[in-house]
Amino acid sequence: MSKYQLKWGILAVGGIAETFARDLTVSPETRGVKDIEHIIVAAAASSSQQRAQAFLEKVGVRNAKAYGSYKELVQDSNVDIIYIATPHSHHYQHAMLCLEAGKNVLCEKAFTTNAAQAKILIEKAREKNLFLMEAAWTRYFPISQYVRDQIRSGAIGTVQRTFADLSSIVPAGVLKEDNRLISPKLAGGVLLDTCIYSLTWVFQTLYSTQDKPSPPQVLSSARKNIAGTDEHTSILLTFPRQQGGDAHGIATASMHVASDADGTGSLPAVRVQGTDGEIQIFHPCFRPTKSRLARSNGKTEEKDWPQLGPGKGSGWWNGFGNEVGKSNNAEGEGHGMFWEADECAYALKDGHKESRVQMLAESLEVMEVMDEVRRQNGIVFPHDIETTDYPVEIAR
Ligand SMILES: NC(=O)c1ccc[n+]([C@@H]2O[C@H](COP(=O)([O-])OP(=O)(O)OC[C@H]3O[C@@H](n4cnc5c(N)ncnc54)[C@H](OP(=O)(O)O)[C@@H]3O)[C@@H](O)[C@H]2O)c1
Repeated sequence: MSKYQLKWGILAVGGIAETFARDLTVSPETRGVKDIEHIIVAAAASSSQQRAQAFLEKVGVRNAKAYGSYKELVQDSNVDIIYIATPHSHHYQHAMLCLEAGKNVLCEKAFTTNAAQAKILIEKAREKNLFLMEAAWTRYFPISQYVRDQIRSGAIGTVQRTFADLSSIVPAGVLKEDNRLISPKLAGGVLLDTCIYSLTWVFQTLYSTQDKPSPPQVLSSARKNIAGTDEHTSILLTFPRQQGGDAHGIATASMHVASDADGTGSLPAVRVQGTDGEIQIFHPCFRPTKSRLARSNGKTEEKDWPQLGPGKGSGWWNGFGNEVGKSNNAEGEGHGMFWEADECAYALKDGHKESRVQMLAESLEVMEVMDEVRRQNGIVFPHDIETTDYPVEIAR
């Protein structure tokens, strides 16, 4: 059987681009996926061709084109789909660049700076009959599929609420005004950077699992940092339902407390609570590897969800840090970004124009929630990254 080959272009060669690209080099057969293949055929850095070339060498990709500008990359006729890995402040401009050039797009989270931008990208993708997907990679993990399946099958009764947190203490000295984590110029703050994962869990347990979901009501409180973006944010979402009453989602993120306070990974970062039990997902909720299902009948099910890769002895490392001894992950372990890449391949193979796991309407809904949190808390970004005009040169 011939395999479906998806040819990738990588737009930006920073930290997450490296992790994603390394994951693409793992054979899909390692995770039991036999009918698709990922090939990186090009990468582009914003400033120089040499940086793109160095990136390709670092991630172990040969025979791929290296470009010194994003504009050259989108003109490469050999590229099927472009993975956008610039800061979220820049996603709208770069996704438009790709779509206008006729390229399918997988765009890093947060999808855009605001919902208006997301809406226009979706319209543009539809107008051009192109595939577009938010890179909400956690949703594509088998553990996420398992949780959604448990909820749909009624394993914990009617779900009443979900708590989800992604917080880690950022040392005060790091948080200078121009740091990307807080700078308004790069759409900084925990809301778009990390609370998006808490929202991912709230949405995939309370919204995606409904047949006809409605938008949630939003209440929120955000404490601001010296740059005027948010550093400690709590969101209460009320999801209206036809049956079972409204469900509550509590999504939090902070730079001043830690989800994993004792550093052992033994504290639940997500709790999905139903009338007959609870599902717990352990920290970190962006890349969880452990779940516990606790039923009110006293039965519990604990599961490990390893991210498969080339394995011990391979001398291959991935994860933040990417290098031997610096990676958060063990030798030979995948980071898990290949699951979302597989979804892109299957969708394109079968002619779909959006993910089957997270529809674009849901990505837009999540952006609407984040807009509302920003409105309630007066979090404003500069005009050049909020605008829906295109093309716009964003000030460095
Ligand atoms: N899925 C995940 O787990 C995950 C983890 C971390 C970050 N992210 C998301 O991925 C995106 C990139 O994050 P990152 O950690 O990879 O950032 P990063 O290491 O700073 O890399 C960002 C890249 O974007 C390019 N870029 C273009 N314009 C830029 C500008 N004005 N300022 C800064 N960089 C600019 C840079 O240049 P070149 O083109 O020259 O490389 C840089 O390499 C963000 O949206 C972030 O939220 C996702």
